[in-house]
Amino acid sequence: MDELVIHGGTPLMGEVTVSGSKNAVVAIIPAAVLVDGVCRIENVPNISDVAVITELLTRLGAVCTRLDDGSLEIDSRKVNKYNPPHELVKKMRASYYLIGALLGRFNNAQVCMPGGCNFGHRPIDLHIKGFEAVGATVDEVGEVITAYTDELKGGSIYLDFASVGATINIMLATVRANGVTTIENAAKEPHIVDVANFLNAMGANIKGAGTDTIKIIGVDRLGGGTYSIIPDQIEAGTFMIAAAATRGDVLVKNVIPRHMETLTAKLTEMGVTVEEFDDSIRVYAPTRPTRARVKTMPYPGFPTDLQALMVALMALAEGISSMTETVYDNRFQYVDELRRMGADINVDGRTAMIRGVPKLVGANVTSMDLRAGAAVLVAGLAAEGKTVINTMAHIDRGYDNIIEKMTALGASLERVSIAEKV
Ligand code: EPU
Repeated sequence: MDELVIHGGTPLMGEVTVSGSKNAVVAIIPAAVLVDGVCRIENVPNISDVAVITELLTRLGAVCTRLDDGSLEIDSRKVNKYNPPHELVKKMRASYYLIGALLGRFNNAQVCMPGGCNFGHRPIDLHIKGFEAVGATVDEVGEVITAYTDELKGGSIYLDFASVGATINIMLATVRANGVTTIENAAKEPHIVDVANFLNAMGANIKGAGTDTIKIIGVDRLGGGTYSIIPDQIEAGTFMIAAAATRGDVLVKNVIPRHMETLTAKLTEMGVTVEEFDDSIRVYAPTRPTRARVKTMPYPGFPTDLQALMVALMALAEGISSMTETVYDNRFQYVDELRRMGADINVDGRTAMIRGVPKLVGANVTSMDLRAGAAVLVAGLAAEGKTVINTMAHIDRGYDNIIEKMTALGASLERVSIAEKV
């Protein structure tokens, strides 16, 4: 196991390039199961979630080759199983996309309930409702979900909540179904659009991704092709917040500024200077940010995946800020870690009140999940003294070369393997 040691207090300065989107790629790799040919996926981030989902495809019979330029080539023509190994499925939440992809390919899928970050109840009832609406029978026995049918037929699905996972999973299941499927109250996150664009580039006919209503006109076959993943919205936001928290000056490159609008608006409201260019954003924060009120919402609202990071920044802002989490029922577990660093935060239900302090101090902290890990990392970079984050495993799931990227911005941090320390 590796831990992360940070010597904080240095403003981040310079330029950083954002990698491909984690939440797009972890859906696009399973989507390749539906492709009858070779697909070449470019701009694939080097993160452990990609390693796990690629291994899952390989175990199903796909040939996956990582190329020197960072692309991933997938040939799924020899995939001949629809029951991925449980121990690997449990390593990540996005393995639920194999249900939609395998159902779409074989009319059959047998996948155990996925793992992933634990911040409250995370059911997949909306995914199941979608599969059933297009003709599948879904049985849940113990931890195993079996979905099967003789034929998938287009249907209409209204999602009670605009779920990212359900929207994508239903697209995967129905892209080769007979007839037209309509998803109402679909999620609109940038990675939804990216998955639809990937499928369309392979020959699918999906309209309306990025709006409330998505129409999937089933096609017989998806052929191969090349597709480049969009930049990671949350990684971009992490660097923007880190620049503000350390009072730095950072040009974040390879971003789609439109995806960052709610964060840009909030940072600006907090007195941080944010300049937008075509595909980069500069964040300049010479003075202490001021308080803000934020509520997380599905896109285009403020992303829940930046909630913990934003609270780390609010912990250092002048005045009393508030953060309300509306997407998940339990995503404030990391607050105790920030308190260890001197933050003054009170949580009542789904709202945290944050009384800003002039400085945080380094401490030994736990990384509870991926974004909580990123939040304590940013707090550690801003804090005075030494912070030790007990494990890198969560951060490695979603951040490509984070240590190298932060070091290039002037931060002082290193990965230490526990064995090395003993
Ligand atoms: N929900 C249900 N039933 C369902 C599906 C979702 O009740 O069938 C509820 C969940 O319990 C949750 C809310 O709806 O309260 C949102 O869930 P959603 O399905 O939108 O999220 P997800 O697909 O499980 C993806 C990202 C998350 C991100 C959320 C929200 C991936 C692999 N994961 O999860 O990313 O927080 O959308 O934007 O795309 C992360 O990157 O750190 C991360 C957790």
